[in-house]
Amino acid sequence: MKLLHLDSSILGDSSASRQLSHAVVDAWQAVEPDVRVIYRDLASDALGHLSAASLVAAGTPAELRDAAQRHEAELSESTLDEFLAADAIVIGAPMYNFALPSQLKAWIDRITVAGKTFSYTENGPQGLAGSKKVVIVSTSGGVHAGQPSGAAHEDYLKFVLGFVGISDIQVVRAEGLAYGEEPRAAAMKAAEQQVGELFAIA
Ligand SMILES: Cc1cc2nc3c(=O)[nH]c(=O)nc-3n(C[C@H](O)[C@H](O)[C@H](O)COP(=O)(O)O)c2cc1C
Repeated sequence: MKLLHLDSSILGDSSASRQLSHAVVDAWQAVEPDVRVIYRDLASDALGHLSAASLVAAGTPAELRDAAQRHEAELSESTLDEFLAADAIVIGAPMYNFALPSQLKAWIDRITVAGKTFSYTENGPQGLAGSKKVVIVSTSGGVHAGQPSGAAHEDYLKFVLGFVGISDIQVVRAEGLAYGEEPRAAAMKAAEQQVGELFAIA
């Protein structure tokens, strides 16, 4: 089984989502030893934003692309292929300014591709990305789950994954992390328990 592990926190070693996403991957490997992990750090190895140049590169026949267009097209294609090949995905998704990190949004922009991961039919949009399992690790300084303030964060991520056809989505959430040392420790402990429950190793 191929497991794509994404982190997007800009907070390095003090990142809550990195700690928890690694706990999820460790737990997954403990119950399924044949898991092959592909790790992508979207913060330290950031994808460029989808741009006019990206679209022009994609629309230019391979043999006519210049070096910059080849690089751009390769970036889009390899990111999409890596996503499509994954059986499972663990996404570290911190909240920054009530939204996902722009680095994670840049990844979403590369994998949400008409004709590849979704299509529009006469009955409306159809997801094409197959039966992947996804675990979202959602972290935030405040408490936003189920609130309008969480719409552009966890809710958006769930929506866009659903749009490309993924329905098996679990969330490990640590929220209220900015409320002080004790609440942070309690939130992290609760999230680690969620990981244990998810993989029945609590
Ligand atoms: C640039 C930045 C913006 C943030 N914006 C918000 C926010 O809008 N709402 C919130 O509840 N927490 C916010 N936080 C707090 C983070 O969500 C919190 O620190 C969380 O642990 C981030 O996950 P990470 O540690 O994996 O990076 C922000 C933190 C940073 C660094």
